[in-house]
Amino acid sequence: MAAPPRKNSRPGAGKSRHESAPRFVVARAEEIAPGQSRKFMLPIGGIDEECFVVNFGGELRAYVNRCRHIPIAMDWVDNHFFEEKGRYLMCQTHGALYEPRTGECLAGPAGTCGKFLFRIPLEVENGVIYARAPREAIEQGF
Ligand code: FES
Repeated sequence: MAAPPRKNSRPGAGKSRHESAPRFVVARAEEIAPGQSRKFMLPIGGIDEECFVVNFGGELRAYVNRCRHIPIAMDWVDNHFFEEKGRYLMCQTHGALYEPRTGECLAGPAGTCGKFLFRIPLEVENGVIYARAPREAIEQGF
């Protein structure tokens, strides 16, 4: 079960010079070790979307938890996003493989390769991971 969104409560938080969307606490960075992931909820376009953050070799990335083959959650087993060797993100339904750094589908069912997971912008400040809704609209179904 993904954690509910927590809005940043710091005075003046939620805004930076270039961003106007509020930001939400995802986790402490130290809680997501390399090879691990965590789901969280994020309001996007007025809808609470399930998202996930992964630590791939020390780099944090986050995406909407929605496969680009069929718009369903990627994790068959809750919070299980990496394939066996930990090199790719894998949709558990039909095995589509995604590049963790970019979200690009590299292998999978016809019509899925070359599509990208919907990326969620992250910020890390004082050891806390924050997420913002992406500027671009995400497709609700495809
Ligand atoms: S639903 Fe993800 S590969 Fe088919």
